[in-house]
Amino acid sequence: MKALVLYEHGDNDKFNFETNFPDPEPADSDVIIAVKAASLNYHDIFTRRGMPGITLPLPIIIGLDVAGEIIAVGNAVTGWKIGDRVVVDPINRLDGGLVGETTHGGLAERCRVAQHQLIRLPDSVSFADAAALPVAYGTAWRMMQRIGCIQRGEKVLILGASGGVGVCCVQLAKLAGAEVIACAGSEEKAQRLRQLGADDVILYQQEDFVKAIWQRFGKPSRRRGGGAPGGVDVVVNFTGGDSWVKSLKVLRAGGRLLTCGATAGFAPAEDLRYIWTYELQIFGSNGWERDDLTALLAAVERGELRVIIDRHWPLEQGAQALASLEQRQVFGKVIVA
Ligand SMILES: NC(=O)c1ccc[n+]([C@@H]2O[C@H](COP(=O)([O-])OP(=O)(O)OC[C@H]3O[C@@H](n4cnc5c(N)ncnc54)[C@H](OP(=O)(O)O)[C@@H]3O)[C@@H](O)[C@H]2O)c1
Repeated sequence: MKALVLYEHGDNDKFNFETNFPDPEPADSDVIIAVKAASLNYHDIFTRRGMPGITLPLPIIIGLDVAGEIIAVGNAVTGWKIGDRVVVDPINRLDGGLVGETTHGGLAERCRVAQHQLIRLPDSVSFADAAALPVAYGTAWRMMQRIGCIQRGEKVLILGASGGVGVCCVQLAKLAGAEVIACAGSEEKAQRLRQLGADDVILYQQEDFVKAIWQRFGKPSRRRGGGAPGGVDVVVNFTGGDSWVKSLKVLRAGGRLLTCGATAGFAPAEDLRYIWTYELQIFGSNGWERDDLTALLAAVERGELRVIIDRHWPLEQGAQALASLEQRQVFGKVIVA
């Protein structure tokens, strides 16, 4: 089959596009899916580069997010048949492991997954929309709804707002009735964020976002009650690096900082003074649970949540698609099929 295969860690030139990669065979409790759409995530870049302390089984076909049609079932598979439309929960919750990282992923014509990772796909949800959901939208859903509990009227600053996780954070914050201030790296992304519902956008490479927030809402005050508290109620920061301490500086007393990642560095400088002085709350959020995915699918099916797709790329150009993500030329999700 055709597949984009990573043989060693490094840059994008480490991928090999192959036309004769061995077809997957289903073990007893597995199914084989004809991949109709896969989506890329920043995680695929970390997989390609290699992550400290994590050894991956190479060669590997990347792509955590997979949607498609079942074309073969193992002997012990029940409840699933050839022709069923499915989206895959990338996490193997019984045996451990992650599709596209510890087992072959979606950047191929076919993909083998355990039956317990399958989620039935309603006819009204396209393969592309479904493939865009699990990692990015699932993570955003859990972080914003279940852990961050974003409330109506809250001021929410979202860094990395134009990416896969970011656009969904903007959408969910708006659905919750929050006031959204989004950070963007270009005017083009800023415009699209406004169209998506962001109330305000900070071009953070041109304007320091700390100053921008202080200008708009005042400097946070240590006193609670009486008068405007200054700053924002919530910062969503999965960028890390230099943006971390800055995020502490824009939160009102008692404000919440939500994090699910560290695109620009996982060991940033820290300034504990802000955390204790302003009694800030730091919430970590890791991935999604199965019920986050079913809730998301239902929201998409009801038309409450639109899936934001930047572009569809053919499988042959999967490495270029990943390069576009790495070069930050993307708004929302990137589909490969
Ligand atoms: N814990 C989990 O389970 C989990 C799940 C999903 C994602 N994550 C993490 O969340 C982060 C975002 O993932 P994603 O798939 O949404 O990524 P993405 O689509 O590439 O979006 C990331 C956005 O962050 C901004 N950014 C700021 N500084 C950056 C930098 N130094 N390098 C690259 N982008 C930068 C970019 O927008 P501008 O150019 O406009 O600034 C970009 O659009 C990643 O770190 C990922 O590993 C974690």
